[in-house]
Amino acid sequence: MANVTVIGAQWGDEGKGKIVDWLASRADVVVRFQGGHNAGHTLVVDGKTYKLSLLPSGIVSGTLSVIGNGVVLDPWALREEVARIEAQGVRITDDNLAIADNCPLILPLHRDLDALRETAAGKGKIGTTGRGIGPAYEDKVGRRAIRVCDLAHLDALEAQLDRLCAHHDALRAGFGQPPVDRAALLAALSEVAPFVLRFAQPVWKRLKKVRRAGARILFEGAQGVLLDVDHGTYPFVTSSNTVSGTAAAGSGLGPSATGFVLGIVKAYTTRVGSGPFPTELDDEIGQRLGERGHEFGTVTGRKRRVGWFDAVLVRQSCAISGVTGIALTKIDVLDGLEKVKICTGYRLRGKVYDYLPSHAADQALCEPIYEEMDGWSQSTAGARSYADLPANAIKYIQRIQELIECPVALVSTSPERDDTILMRDPFVD
Ligand code: IMP
Repeated sequence: MANVTVIGAQWGDEGKGKIVDWLASRADVVVRFQGGHNAGHTLVVDGKTYKLSLLPSGIVSGTLSVIGNGVVLDPWALREEVARIEAQGVRITDDNLAIADNCPLILPLHRDLDALRETAAGKGKIGTTGRGIGPAYEDKVGRRAIRVCDLAHLDALEAQLDRLCAHHDALRAGFGQPPVDRAALLAALSEVAPFVLRFAQPVWKRLKKVRRAGARILFEGAQGVLLDVDHGTYPFVTSSNTVSGTAAAGSGLGPSATGFVLGIVKAYTTRVGSGPFPTELDDEIGQRLGERGHEFGTVTGRKRRVGWFDAVLVRQSCAISGVTGIALTKIDVLDGLEKVKICTGYRLRGKVYDYLPSHAADQALCEPIYEEMDGWSQSTAGARSYADLPANAIKYIQRIQELIECPVALVSTSPERDDTILMRDPFVD
């Protein structure tokens, strides 16, 4: 049986939550492989609402949930989330939660640095979620991170903290901030260590075992390809690789395990935070789509920027991430528009581009070239088969499929799990 890797093919918030829930209910294992508690989604199971940031989506239904080494883990945020979800009646034990022991930690000093940098950047800020994600990844790559396994060696931790803090103290001094309180940090880590260590293990080994036993694995990506640190709209990106290939490196299973790559694509475009957005709408239509689509961030509550569907970006994301098929979400938000537009290329300094150039200044200057189509007045909300859709909505979906050069595997027509039109089952295909 195939495994499935779910990734966002735009700037995150494509509606991965609903699709992941549906797939998680049929998976034996759900694996997070990048990002941290900057992600967020709301699960509704049997009428109860659960808000998850760091825990994989399988946790609520008791499915084995794995936090892979590619994630950056804030142990206090994890403890708070586990307590919150347990208070809702979900049991979380080392039977259903496994955390990679080589996972780097997010510490309070990372959150401090995230905030200091954003404040200092003023108008040039990235618009991060303020969770310390970027600074934690920097320390991982800089080979000075504190990792989960270090919590089992508290005797050596003091020396490790000295090295880490020497680096951070210099940065903090540049911002006029006092040095890190090492003793307090050591005490806080010692206190939280037993909680994290309950779940810690070499997860690559556990995954190897379950894979051999024929388990269906769902890799749950966070954010989106356009926020990828290499392939996204750099520097307005997150600090991890959000592409499908990370599922392998960020979990310790080889690339052959990633299976069907399902790219989640919203029927229009949104982004939170700063950075280029060629099809952004500053008009009434943008306002209307934002309201109808409830476009507010799950983690930060920030209003999302909204624009027309950009086929250039999604084609690029699908190619970069080797997407097998897409799930098109929130088509119902476009219901009732007289005309709908799709971006098919960019005009930049008199030239036409069929891709997004890499330089930030060029990206900011890209003017969208639109194709206009007739909209549909009938509702698509709740449609469960292609035949239920208005003819113009079908034309819109087919045109998207052609332009992005990737098949549509499913269409989601409301937040309800069953309001889905299934063309290809990712677990079976
Ligand atoms: P960071 O990941 O907190 O460093 O934020 C970097 C950029 O990624 C900012 O533009 C954030 O708004 C964006 N970002 C991070 N996580 C998410 C997410 O889950 N959905 C959408 N955007 C995100």
